[in-house]
Amino acid sequence: MSKVRAAVFASGTGSNFEAIMKEKIPGCDITFLVCDQPDAKVIDKANYFDVPTFVFSAKDYPSKQAYERVLVDKLQEAGVTWIFLAGYMRMIGKMLLDVYEERIINIHPSLLPAFPGKDAIGQAVEAGVGKTGVTVHYVDSGMDSGPIIAQEELEMFPDETIETLKKRIQKVEHRLYPRVIKDLMLKD
Ligand code: GAR
Repeated sequence: MSKVRAAVFASGTGSNFEAIMKEKIPGCDITFLVCDQPDAKVIDKANYFDVPTFVFSAKDYPSKQAYERVLVDKLQEAGVTWIFLAGYMRMIGKMLLDVYEERIINIHPSLLPAFPGKDAIGQAVEAGVGKTGVTVHYVDSGMDSGPIIAQEELEMFPDETIETLKKRIQKVEHRLYPRVIKDLMLKD
């Protein structure tokens, strides 16, 4: 059986990338990691799992369109048909969206549409909401706004801090994201 070739895009620590790798998703090969932060910890994780990396700095290109053109060429050359965003803190532009329509998914640490954008965990603690959670969704041109694939709720504790909530959210993320990817690969 030929495997689906996928790329993970990440900017930071890479705990979700690690969770995806550890799951060894049947029928899915993580062909490479794209990272926009040359010092990100996720690059060490990719080396550990022997996953090739493509690391770039947006400031080295004249526009989003210019670096996404390079990314599209690399992805297509490698036969990549799915993109999993795992803490990739950059909006996806038209260049990638046109080629990978309904084939880019993202994980976000809130119950979207609540708290899109940066620091969703901090935003939820600050707002004092009774519940928050994790969302996996298709990516469109908006900020964390595409169609929702799966969500999992978490009750907020009365004495919740960003640290306690982040720990519990990440535990959910590391279980939910590989599971959703597994389901999508079965249907592909
Ligand atoms: C994760 O919590 C992910 O949901 C969030 O970044 C973190 C990356 O952690 N993504 C977003 O906020 C996207 N808007 P990781 O690098 O340890 O996987």
